[in-house]
Amino acid sequence: MLVTHTKQELAERIAEWRQLGDHVALVPTMGGLHAGHLSLVELAREHAERVVVSVFVNPTQFAEGEDFDEYPRALERDKLRLKKSAADMIFAPDVETIYPFGPDKATTVSVPGLTENFCGATRPGHFDGVTTVVARLFAIVQPDVAVFGQKDYQQQLVIRRMTEDLSLPVSIITGETVRADDGLALSSRNGYLSDEEREVAPVLYQTLCFVGQELQSGRRNFAELEAMAVERLIAAGFEVDYFAIRRALDLETPDRDCDDLVVLTAARLGSARLIDNIVVSI
Ligand code: PAF
Repeated sequence: MLVTHTKQELAERIAEWRQLGDHVALVPTMGGLHAGHLSLVELAREHAERVVVSVFVNPTQFAEGEDFDEYPRALERDKLRLKKSAADMIFAPDVETIYPFGPDKATTVSVPGLTENFCGATRPGHFDGVTTVVARLFAIVQPDVAVFGQKDYQQQLVIRRMTEDLSLPVSIITGETVRADDGLALSSRNGYLSDEEREVAPVLYQTLCFVGQELQSGRRNFAELEAMAVERLIAAGFEVDYFAIRRALDLETPDRDCDDLVVLTAARLGSARLIDNIVVSI
């Protein structure tokens, strides 16, 4: 598996693959790789003969005061993990490679509407940073396919919208959330949890499942269910950013007949901000 930090080496290797008629999949990551990322790599491999994993902690998607400095950076460990996976190449650029004019002077890609609520409301500028870096990675790697995790449900919708709106020739694939045995969604940020917080953290998924079951059994009083869920989370020790039942397609408020719902939440436990969601198809 090749590890490169430069656009040139990346382009040369991809040109060789293209000559052989191979398709290329990209799995964008910020490193701190866990089993969830590895499952995205395996999924990518089902859609293309070659898989590139980018590892780049993107400064433009962190608001001031967020965890950019603390975010786990462990390229050597990431390399070891990927060695045993289906990845063909790691692309680990530095900030100048991605933002030649500097992050503050970067041409920005912004998706209105979908980015205004939920994580967009509590993390101002976050999605502009995500779409800006993903558009750059698409331009550099020129993949046929790119794979994102369902755990970041709003993010994958925003990226799908950007790709469609700009007619980018990349198919977006969403991979299922991978969970610990107790249900906690795997995340690079779980490492911020203390032992006691780690014990409490699965309540987030349990609460999503409770609401999912209520929806499946025909309950349609969405606001009441959301309020009940928030109460449960607060009682367990979370500080809730949002807990919402929305249309899976576009995160709009669903009417009572909507059959494809997503229940999504973000909540803080100590210094960790955890996000999770479940899709409920009735
Ligand atoms: O989901 C992530 O890890 C990041 O938001 C992404 C898509 C790699 C962009 O930096």
